Amino acid sequence: MYRIGEEEIQAVARVIRSKNLFKTTGTETMDCEKELREKFGVNHSILMTSGKAALISALTALGVGPGDEVIVPAYTYIATAIAVTAVGAIPVIAEIDETLTIDPADVEKKISKYTKAIIPVHMQGLPCDMDALCDIAKKHGLFIVEDACQADGGSYKGERLGTIGEIGALSFNHYKIITSGEGGALLTNDRVLYENALIFQDSSAIAFFGDQLQGITQPQFCGNEYRTNEITAAILREQLKKLDGILFDLRKNKGLIMQTLRDDFNFIPSNDIVGDCGVMLAFSFETRDAAQRFIKSAEADGIYSVSPIDTGKHVYTHWTPIIEKRGAFNPKMDPFKMEENQALNFNCTPDACPKTLDILAKTVYISVDPDWSDDDIAKMIELIKRWR
Ligand SMILES: Cc1ncc(COP(=O)(O)O)c(C=O)c1O
Repeated sequence: MYRIGEEEIQAVARVIRSKNLFKTTGTETMDCEKELREKFGVNHSILMTSGKAALISALTALGVGPGDEVIVPAYTYIATAIAVTAVGAIPVIAEIDETLTIDPADVEKKISKYTKAIIPVHMQGLPCDMDALCDIAKKHGLFIVEDACQADGGSYKGERLGTIGEIGALSFNHYKIITSGEGGALLTNDRVLYENALIFQDSSAIAFFGDQLQGITQPQFCGNEYRTNEITAAILREQLKKLDGILFDLRKNKGLIMQTLRDDFNFIPSNDIVGDCGVMLAFSFETRDAAQRFIKSAEADGIYSVSPIDTGKHVYTHWTPIIEKRGAFNPKMDPFKMEENQALNFNCTPDACPKTLDILAKTVYISVDPDWSDDDIAKMIELIKRWR
């Protein structure tokens, strides 16, 4: 969470005073979706309860299901992979490259006759190589669902992350660039995908409350319930106003530090440094030991740093339910046990992606704060120099 305060308090008070807390009794959700469309430059947006809800809705809208493989990076939060199992499909993991995002060359190696979609994940606000991934998707007839949950507002070659593939997912949980505590959004330019996602994410109330199905031509089907409330939407409307300012300051602070330290340290390469959200300084070391020594020195000076290899469920080796193939509680709903999935190329075993583990172990993160003063930045630079 970066910037939240009086504006959000007033927005929440406004909703409570209105006594319209439900999506269709007030207008906050609809207004927020409109403002999302404007900010991200897309035709359709749906506010939801979480980023994972948006990913599941995206895969559902595309018709992904049993018999399908979906390629995900070996370095992403477990929610990305679980979203694939939630629709009955099988996640296949691909290596990341030095940019810490999915390696297009390895994606191509992992494509099989069962592959239906790729989920590039813009980890820590770092843009994936979308040109290469879109080319691969086009060549093999695959869908792209962008997981921009850690990259709200970032961009790739001038286009906002989450708007380049067929569908994109944003998250607004507590740890994201803008937040309502929990929340997410689905973005797409495709009318049919939007309609399918809309029906899926509010399937028991959409036809009952308001005129949400007006103009919808896709047939209704049984789905889930990921509807948000007006308070969430009202908070997000204020957060959206702050998004570009937060990104500007994150990028400025990260840029200043990188520029000053560029002769002293290696930083990971970027697919688009201008569009990078700037949330993390990502140092690249020759060895794992060198990375750990840096972390210890930072700790001695009271600064928190971490290697992404030590960030638990962001690394595929920690995806216990996936590795142990428990895809659902009811065995008949478990994609790993489904007849249609038995010939698929499940590859999520601990030794599947050694390159990813090596890159992550040699990387160290330090979080960037958009509200650092010039003085804070100067002090941080002086400290970091001591940890060489
Ligand atoms: C890369 C990534 N994908 C998906 C999600 C899921 O987002 P949410 O927690 O809003 O469901 C997260 C959340 O941390 C994430 O980091």
